[in-house]
Amino acid sequence: MAAACNCNAAPLTLQAGAGCRQQVASFKQSSIFGLPCSPRTRIALVNQRIGTPAAMTSALMDANGGLSDVSLAVASGGGIALLAAALSLADPEKRRQQQAAETGGDEKAVVRNYFNTSGFERWKRIYGEQDDVNSVQLDIRQGHAQTVEKTLEILNQSSLKNVTICDAGCGTGSLSIPLAMAGAQVYASDISSAMVDEAAKRASQALKENQPEPKFEARDLESITGRYDTVCCLDVLIHYPQEKAGAMVTHLASLAEKRLILSFAPKTLWYSVLKRIGELFPGPSKATRAYLHAEEDVERALNAAGWVVKKREMTATKFYFSRLLEAVPARSQ
Ligand SMILES: C[S@@+](CC[C@H](N)C(=O)[O-])C[C@H]1O[C@@H](n2cnc3c(N)ncnc32)[C@H](O)[C@@H]1O
Repeated sequence: MAAACNCNAAPLTLQAGAGCRQQVASFKQSSIFGLPCSPRTRIALVNQRIGTPAAMTSALMDANGGLSDVSLAVASGGGIALLAAALSLADPEKRRQQQAAETGGDEKAVVRNYFNTSGFERWKRIYGEQDDVNSVQLDIRQGHAQTVEKTLEILNQSSLKNVTICDAGCGTGSLSIPLAMAGAQVYASDISSAMVDEAAKRASQALKENQPEPKFEARDLESITGRYDTVCCLDVLIHYPQEKAGAMVTHLASLAEKRLILSFAPKTLWYSVLKRIGELFPGPSKATRAYLHAEEDVERALNAAGWVVKKREMTATKFYFSRLLEAVPARSQ
């Protein structure tokens, strides 16, 4: 239901959490966060079901797995200034601590729990092919499909037959399955056993007898071992703060012989503001925390591990933003 954004400047759209439908309804009538709403500073509140974590890389979505029922379209200029005041009143950290306490675990446990329960249901739909998604989820599905497509384009430049590929944080197998179809020996893992089980189910339905079945395993990124020709990690770093992301990039690089492909939500001023706005609207307790990453930070970690960026891609739809880097060992250049 939702409202269209009727802004003078380029509108941006962001997701907000679920439990604020009533609040939103009242904002809709006459004000923005209690302030009069002028035509130049209009916030259109979309009261439609979104329900998705931004795990995905959507900087706009309160990456919290829980985003959800509201979408805001915000005008720039004065609208942002008004929002800034409101933003300072929000306390996302406190909310996250409550969410972690409710889940009874640390941050990683919150993520695992989310992707094994409500997050699994949401992402299974988003990463599926059925019509059971709303327009926002459809947009995210299409954005994510572009990231997968760009990854496949990079990898398909030479034959994948018998090439070993680690798909770290494989989700429902969106990348693993086409790689196996191309003949690659895929090792795919995810922190969520529900996601891994779904990936295995989809793989067995999609693959022919002569195509190698990927090896699926429920485990977190930290505990992946072995050596692979290529390591891919798409849209997972959003669950890692920068101080841990550097170490994760180093770890992933240590698993790869020839190529490392990473995608992440890029940290820019604009996306940071959008994410902060999204945090105004708490999602349900299932929500996870989301982290954007500065490209320079990711590249610095790659360089420190002896890798250089060979290719950069960016996918940006209305609700999905993902930077894709292909890195290779510096010595190979
Ligand atoms: C947005 S999904 C992306 C899935 C897949 N890479 C894709 O692009 O289709 C993020 C995935 O990361 C997984 N994940 C989050 N934290 C993780 C961790 N610490 N270790 C392994 N997987 C993790 C989640 O369970 C979820 O399946």
